[in-house]
Amino acid sequence: MNLYKYVSNAINEKLGTTVNLEVPRNREFGDFSTNAAMVMAKSAGKNPRELAAEILPKLTELDFVADASIAGPGFINIKLRDEFIWDSAAQPQSPRTDTPMTIDLDYGAYNVAKSLHIGHLRTSIVGDTFNRIARMLGHKTYSWNHIGDWGKPMALVIAWIERLHPELPYFRDDFDPNTSVDFEINPSELNTYYPAASAYAKENPEFQSHAQDIKAKFQDGHAGYFALYEKFLKISLDMMNDTVKRLNILPFDYDLGERNAAKYLDDVEKILRTKDLITESDGAQVIVVKRDDDNKPMPPYMWTDSRGADTYDSTDLAAVYCRKITDAPDRIIYFTDLRQGLHFEQLFRVSQISGIFDYNKFEHIGYGTINGRDGKPFKTRDGNAAGLDDIIDAVNEAVNARVAESGKTLDNDTIAAIALSAVKFNDLMHDVRSDYIFDPASVTSFEGRTGPYILYTAVRLNSVLKRATDVPSATCMPINSDERNLLIGILDFERTVHSAFDNRATDMIANYAYDLCQLINTFYHNCPILRDDVPADVRAGRLHIATIARDTLAKTIDLMGLKIPNEM
Ligand code: ARG
Repeated sequence: MNLYKYVSNAINEKLGTTVNLEVPRNREFGDFSTNAAMVMAKSAGKNPRELAAEILPKLTELDFVADASIAGPGFINIKLRDEFIWDSAAQPQSPRTDTPMTIDLDYGAYNVAKSLHIGHLRTSIVGDTFNRIARMLGHKTYSWNHIGDWGKPMALVIAWIERLHPELPYFRDDFDPNTSVDFEINPSELNTYYPAASAYAKENPEFQSHAQDIKAKFQDGHAGYFALYEKFLKISLDMMNDTVKRLNILPFDYDLGERNAAKYLDDVEKILRTKDLITESDGAQVIVVKRDDDNKPMPPYMWTDSRGADTYDSTDLAAVYCRKITDAPDRIIYFTDLRQGLHFEQLFRVSQISGIFDYNKFEHIGYGTINGRDGKPFKTRDGNAAGLDDIIDAVNEAVNARVAESGKTLDNDTIAAIALSAVKFNDLMHDVRSDYIFDPASVTSFEGRTGPYILYTAVRLNSVLKRATDVPSATCMPINSDERNLLIGILDFERTVHSAFDNRATDMIANYAYDLCQLINTFYHNCPILRDDVPADVRAGRLHIATIARDTLAKTIDLMGLKIPNEM
């Protein structure tokens, strides 16, 4: 049950107005408080405390209100009845939307022949959690891994392999696709080709220009380039799959990116030409998206580059078209680095003016940068830009060190689950749009706002519940303040999931998890459950609270794509 919504709707109805309901920090006097009297006093021309006194009896008429009182200049505190809290919390916590939508989510978006880097961490984690939130609410989502598999990096890698092995037949224009070639690419070597080739291209204009020719021919279906591409494509897709598993994110509904979108380019071009939207600029075909009221630079959208090749821009527009005819989404949401903001603004405008998709149905969630302790983009120890695996490895190592220090022994799966929680939770708890500092040592602490703390709380609750032989009680007992606060915390789950979705704020889920764990741990410390001196009915009641707390925490943990280990 969405307690907040239930209570505020009932109060609004009772008072015939919309009041602002808050959850006070100090719960001693009330579970909720409102400044309604202070707001209404103005128009009623009354003193707020006086008006509050008039409102109180109306509130106490509500069957779930135990008590209402006035505080300070006219705040009203509302205390709920124990049975009401108990019964509400006993119902399943399952938030549902009243307005289900079909939503295409574009995240992950890994690149072929380029190793995954730190930038892919946030799109994967935030995108996946957002997907889980939307699904829990009952939206139909399709996740698109818009793979970078059609652009310049492909050409650079092909050009680089040509430099290393000019004798291979792939580079001949008359290459016969049925030729069997005795050539294998070593997966760990593949990741070095792109950086090497792009560095080399910067110094060697001829190589650069050759790569551009390769790109155009490749996109035109050059058989030899394609045969070579198929080889490294497979290696890259395998690596992407490993990452998806390692990050414990849901499998993508579509692993289809630029190359798939390219199939729709002709259809899209027809639309653009009919509307006369393509113009020529320095040999390139472009679409003007600038508006008169733009106060920042708004370059034209690149339809083809000066060599006639497809671009990141053109395939992205074709991907919108493809999604529209495949999923007919109500919205399309992209999760990428903030720095792609301009690209998406252009894409949304072109989609609008071409009539392909409404500007207002798009969203770009741009995330900030992950920095090291020095405040600069996080690097590995040897000073290189960190790969995604480097990050996870560094955190695994930090967890191992911590566990060894504590004298515990935990198996590798448990270590990996803890490390994953550290990485993902730290990512999720920050506002997506902001940069954050990534420090393997602090994110792995078992205390404070960390993933391991969340898991530890869940493991502890599970272990209490496993040891219990009594049956949890379904009937309400008198509840003390720690029990009460925990139950109300549990009852905030539904509201949190709705708000996280509505505000596109996955951090709300992570921070809710932390708050819930704080309540659970306070309850755990102050309210003994299995101790011999605890009366049977109290034990049964507390077991009931512990059970629903565990279930709600487990749901929250699942939204973040973390795994709860058996022990910690
Ligand atoms: N592959 C791109 C990158 O790694 C991100 C693609 C994002 N999605 C899109 N439809 N443009 O930067």
